[in-house]
Amino acid sequence: MSIWHITGGSPLRGQIRVQGSKNAVLPVIAASLLCGADTELLNCPNLSDVDAAMDILRYLGCTAARCGDALCIDTTAPARCDIPRELMHRMRSSVIFLGPLLARFGEAEVSLPGGCELGPRPIDLHLHALRLLGAEIEEGEDSIVCRASHLRGAEISLALPSVGATENAMIAACAAEGATVIYNAAREPEIETLQSYLCALGADVSGAGSPVIRITGFSPRSHAGLRIPPDRIAAATYLCCTACAGGEIELTAAAPGQIVPVLDALRAMGCAVSTHGERIHMTAHGRPASPGAIVTRPYPGFPTDAAPLLMAASLRCTRPAMFIENIFSGRYRHAEEMRALGAQIVLRGPMALVTGVETLHGASMKSPDLRGGAALVAAALGAEGESTVTDAGHILRGYESLDETLRSLGASVWREKA
Ligand code: EPZ
Repeated sequence: MSIWHITGGSPLRGQIRVQGSKNAVLPVIAASLLCGADTELLNCPNLSDVDAAMDILRYLGCTAARCGDALCIDTTAPARCDIPRELMHRMRSSVIFLGPLLARFGEAEVSLPGGCELGPRPIDLHLHALRLLGAEIEEGEDSIVCRASHLRGAEISLALPSVGATENAMIAACAAEGATVIYNAAREPEIETLQSYLCALGADVSGAGSPVIRITGFSPRSHAGLRIPPDRIAAATYLCCTACAGGEIELTAAAPGQIVPVLDALRAMGCAVSTHGERIHMTAHGRPASPGAIVTRPYPGFPTDAAPLLMAASLRCTRPAMFIENIFSGRYRHAEEMRALGAQIVLRGPMALVTGVETLHGASMKSPDLRGGAALVAAALGAEGESTVTDAGHILRGYESLDETLRSLGASVWREKA
């Protein structure tokens, strides 16, 4: 367990380069199982979730090594197609290995990923898509066994634009005979990155970023390379930390086009936000205005992962702010912790009403999940005095050296390994 110590009151100033995207690199690591190839991925973040995905590849008999910010993967000779519970449970999104294992071996046995801090994480849409592609699936108490002697192309319509289900379907469809069309596909930028990788491996995939994705063939190549794009949620996180603490930051390689709703909300709060190509510049001073209503939606709507960070920035706003969460039922656990700082937050199901206060005071808080933990650190930057965030191991799942990066911007943040 790690304890973060934060002393509020220091404005953030400086320039940082945003880490590579966690949610882009994880499905690509899983997809590398599709065929015997060596893959080099550049700009990969150094995160515990990435380590967990690489450990799964090694367990399966592949070689996977980190060379600086590059991952070097060789999936020529995996020796098994099952993933044990202890590996599946280290990373919430490990279900993304189901499609690749089924595509490569015609069978897969994984334990259920289980719920998480954000609430239940059903995988019915993943299984529905794989069944349409020809998989026979036995769902046990804690495990799933899939078999498909022959995957065949299908028309798949997803009831929800699920990111993970779209990714599993795309990968499995590469090994199917005949064309596959995925309707109501997720449109997140991470889907486009996966499409780029699958095409680099020799697949014929198109439509990523739109609600309709087509997979029409696969001529496996022996080598694939890809540069992982910036992490749009990490970019939003540093902007919201600055909105909490005040100051002026410049993000390089930040992909501003992927977080437009977040930039618009920060502008509504009175932050001066400008973008130049892949760079974002922002200044924030004094109490923010209200962002109004923040309604989370699948991409390109307001991202659920950035909502806790924007809530942190809204705790001192001059007028009330309303948050409506449409993706995860357990998204608000950080709100209960923020009250210890003196925040005024009323929760009603998917709604959270934040009434801004003049000042926040330091407090001891407990990290509930990855983005909630980062939001508590952000909120503490805007509070007077000392705060602690305990059980903050979650944060390392998604942020590469968040503490060091914030310190480089002038924040008083340090991490104690308890
Ligand atoms: C991905 O999770 C991201 N994780 C999440 O980021 C992100 O919050 C989420 O997409 C939404 O954008 C990764 O990419 C590794 P979903 P995923 O399937 O794929 C329901 C972070 O902090 N659903 O799009 O699990 C589900 O319950 C993480 O980086 C089903 O009902 O999300 C949820 O309400 C957190 N059945 C909604 O769909 C299914 O079979 C969206 O989930 C699958 C999902």
